[in-house]
Amino acid sequence: MVEVKVENLTKIFDGEVVAVNDVSFTVEEGEILTLLGPSGCGKSTILRTIAGFNIPEKGRILFGDRDVTYLPPQDRNTAMCFQNYAIWPHMSVFKNIEFGLQIKRVPIEERENLVKEALGSVRMEDYEKRMPNELSGGQQQRVALARALVVNPDILLLDEPLSNLDAKLRVESRRKIRELVKELNLTAIYVTHDQAEALSISDIIAVLDRGFLRQIGSPRNIWENPENAFVATFIGEANTFNMNVSSVQNGEILLEMKDARSDERHMLTSKYGKGVNTGQIATVVVRPEMMEVSGSQNSSLNQIKAKIRSIMYFGTFERIVAALPDKNEVVIHRFDQKIPLKRNQEIFIHVDPELLYSFGPENL
Ligand SMILES: Nc1ncnc2c1ncn2[C@@H]1O[C@H](COP(=O)(O)OP(=O)(O)OP(=O)(O)O)[C@@H](O)[C@H]1O
Ligand SMILES: [Mg+2]
Repeated sequence: MVEVKVENLTKIFDGEVVAVNDVSFTVEEGEILTLLGPSGCGKSTILRTIAGFNIPEKGRILFGDRDVTYLPPQDRNTAMCFQNYAIWPHMSVFKNIEFGLQIKRVPIEERENLVKEALGSVRMEDYEKRMPNELSGGQQQRVALARALVVNPDILLLDEPLSNLDAKLRVESRRKIRELVKELNLTAIYVTHDQAEALSISDIIAVLDRGFLRQIGSPRNIWENPENAFVATFIGEANTFNMNVSSVQNGEILLEMKDARSDERHMLTSKYGKGVNTGQIATVVVRPEMMEVSGSQNSSLNQIKAKIRSIMYFGTFERIVAALPDKNEVVIHRFDQKIPLKRNQEIFIHVDPELLYSFGPENL
């Protein structure tokens, strides 16, 4: 178990592709940090640099007090599960897992037990004689994980290890990985572009965008207190639209929307603003489940008029698409479905000012 520190990491490919741009973070001993972000944002590059497969142009990697930036991969005691899980097709499950021990020169008589232990930890003990082509995708993934665990690493690096699994197995496997990391006291860095996976598996999430670190914090912090519109919209489904900022006073932001068909102005209050100033256009973000719908206006509530375009039934909620006065559409998940609604009906959308996020031009 060891703390991992990434300091001001910059990785440039071919002298021009800045894959990672001045990224810093710390993973405490025994914690799981997830690198989260869209395709191409630099997740795998950071992981490979920590493993020692890339030398950075700037910055340092520290394991505890040890600077490992220029150390070869085999001297780092990390284990990596690669993005496209590679288990060798010509070797049995047993041989695949044993291989890492051979490289580490673990005496042959100790290997069998260690392999069995690693297979047991991913519940694959009955499969040691199988060849990879006789396993399902999920089973191959578990063998890849066992192969990483068998060398008893200090640091486990996992690059989208569950991407080939079906939805149900993924949810189970996330739990299993989290349990394993905690049980074996590993420090882990996990890569995914799936926000639900990141929220459920991590102690800390680092959100990346085109090589930049946009926010780092606990899953709850990232979900509830996004620093910018990118993080707010990347985590979870979110509606985004623009409103003019009429005033900012004592943390209350008064937002205004012009009507597409009349001179009418529609107002909403936001009590969650980042970098918002009077006279600017704010990017407003609100999640589908944070809005409530009613058929009539209530002047004491923070409401805006809208017209229903479509309704889909999802059991626990209805998914309503409605047009705002400026004709932009928003998606609402309505959980309280007592009052029936129909297409083309005029409604009022109510949103708690604390849950209406507004971002200024510097916080997009
Ligand atoms: N060996 C390389 N040579 C040149 N460019 C590279 C190399 N490896 C990665 N890149 C570029 O660096 C950027 C970051 O790539 P990276 O693989 O880290 O993204 P990622 O976040 O892991 O994406 P994905 O979710 O698709 O796996 C991309 O623009 C990619 O094209
Ligand atoms: Mg990748």
